[in-house]
Amino acid sequence: MYGTPLLVYCRETILARARAYRRVDPEALVVYGTKAFPNVALLRLLAAEGLGADVSTSGELEFALRAGIQGERILFHGNNKSDDELRAAAEAGAFVVIDALDEVARAKVAGVRRVLVRVTPGIEAETHRAIQTAHAESKFGLVADDALAAVRDALASGLDVAGLHVHIGSQLTQSAESLLAVERLANVAAHCQQELGWAPRLFDLGGGLAVSHSLSERVPQPEEFARELLSRLRAHWTEPARVIFEPGRSLVGQAGLTLYRVGVVKRTTGVAYAAIDGGMSDNPRPQLYGSRYEALLANRADETPVATFRIAGKHCESGDVLIESVELPEPRRDDVLAVPATGAYTLAMASNYNGVARPAAVLVADGNAELIRRRESLDDLLAFETT
Ligand SMILES: Cc1ncc(COP(=O)(O)O)c(C=O)c1O
Repeated sequence: MYGTPLLVYCRETILARARAYRRVDPEALVVYGTKAFPNVALLRLLAAEGLGADVSTSGELEFALRAGIQGERILFHGNNKSDDELRAAAEAGAFVVIDALDEVARAKVAGVRRVLVRVTPGIEAETHRAIQTAHAESKFGLVADDALAAVRDALASGLDVAGLHVHIGSQLTQSAESLLAVERLANVAAHCQQELGWAPRLFDLGGGLAVSHSLSERVPQPEEFARELLSRLRAHWTEPARVIFEPGRSLVGQAGLTLYRVGVVKRTTGVAYAAIDGGMSDNPRPQLYGSRYEALLANRADETPVATFRIAGKHCESGDVLIESVELPEPRRDDVLAVPATGAYTLAMASNYNGVARPAAVLVADGNAELIRRRESLDDLLAFETT
């Protein structure tokens, strides 16, 4: 009915994860990392649970506003915000997270009223290099001394400096580095208090928690992870302050799976291929980060696997391989291949490579599916052409 490839999201899984974060501290503000999958229906679902949105472009801001999220629940990030973006954030009444020293004055001119300052604590998160965000060479945020200078400048220019922010990376499978980041953030806060007589009323601890993409991968649960971070903050910062969590992947990653249709099945010397009707245009993560997935034949899920297969996409790149090796029953043309844990940073990063239209997404609950993003058509693709 919806065709393939298709992203299928489970409403209950998303809600359970959002509630897990909220349970940790009912006073905390939980904002959805919109970049994981910008979608108005999901943002609305999360907003109804009291969540806000973390956005990093005008585009993501529009998604959050369309979902009815108020400015006081929106954090506007970005390492290179344009003046237009700062003005849009100001108009929405969002918090702007200052990421560079000159952004203070630019934010002021744009009419921004409240800001946080992003601290780069120099921590190498245990994750793929491309998604580390707080190591010494990171393009994001400000080192401790510059963060203090940004707070000073922002106060001097009359901005409401609400707090400090840290986010050390994504797909974090352990909490150790995040806990260290919390300690360093508290140190910066203490320093600001001594030097400037200013103390944060908001501590934004970022997102980053991983989801497991394969059966062998073990990751902390959202509640456990957030609770650890919160108690580490309370141990290092005893004054009253509200906490913000910014989960993206851990809200929607596990909750989404992708359905593909199997086409060509063939054997080369040593490799058995099953080709699907999507690939790197709907999920570039294997090429970007070496991500690994499991899969099953959804229409023959009770059959025993007989061999290992390499799942190839349909694109004109030999590297367009979604899964290097997965055990399956002998796949047949028109079987439906389900790839779990593909809800985050897949459709959000999708492209039209090879002139392929991007997939649709549905939200399932109580046995019903609701279309939450329509499939692109070839007319959509051609609409950008000028002749
Ligand atoms: C500032 C910020 N907050 C939150 C997130 C969400 O991260 P994740 O999806 O890993 O939870 C990101 C993504 O990298 C981010 O850059």
